Amino acid sequence: MKTIYNIAIDGPAGAGKSTIAREVARRLRFVYVDTGAMYRAIALYFSRKGMDLGDEKEISREVSRVEVSLAYDNGIQQVLLNGENVSSLIRTPQVGAAASVTSAYPAVREKLTQLQKELAKRENIIMDGRDIGTCVLPHADLKVYLTASAEVRAKRRYEELQEKGETADLASIEEEIKERDYRDMHREISPLTKAEDAVLVDTSSMTIEEVVECLMTLAEERGIRV
Ligand code: DC
Repeated sequence: MKTIYNIAIDGPAGAGKSTIAREVARRLRFVYVDTGAMYRAIALYFSRKGMDLGDEKEISREVSRVEVSLAYDNGIQQVLLNGENVSSLIRTPQVGAAASVTSAYPAVREKLTQLQKELAKRENIIMDGRDIGTCVLPHADLKVYLTASAEVRAKRRYEELQEKGETADLASIEEEIKERDYRDMHREISPLTKAEDAVLVDTSSMTIEEVVECLMTLAEERGIRV
């Protein structure tokens, strides 16, 4: 039987998970699964319907009407919401904050974790999120908890927005990041936490290349190769 490798990356908002995971996936020729995009897509659905995001009962009832799926275009993940490609609509801070709220509901998590587990059974994947090492892929071949100080994470987001020509305020970005950390780490179900067997990588003073190299070494040490 073909060996399937799974790599799990968790960490707080802005730690660089997607940049790193995407590059490691490219080098290993693994499929990259961005689970945050799934939580964002489902939150977009509720927001578009004008639903009260704080109303867990209503949101949980509506979950069965939402279909989230992934497709790949030249290796780049596209997220489909009831068949519509919403990839370009989910990157706003508003959708991120909405996702942080609705991802705390068990009905939402059950739906998406099931889908994520299925994806990981089929091929070599590197998956990032908040609960991948702890809940979605507890038997992953490599688990990494990627973090950086809130100050550094805010500065990275700020520079990203500036590069896109968008106006941004560093202090409010840092505030937003801290709020999101708090919500993601203190929710009742599957809070963001480092899995016991995850390797902690603090990227505060590391370059992207250094972090990628660090993960490639960890993967090699665990016999993960294509
Ligand atoms: O990684 P991101 O910023 O795209 O994630 C958006 C929100 O989705 C995040 O604040 C918490 C939630 N999320 C989650 O609860 N579990 C995951 N595996 C991924 C994201």
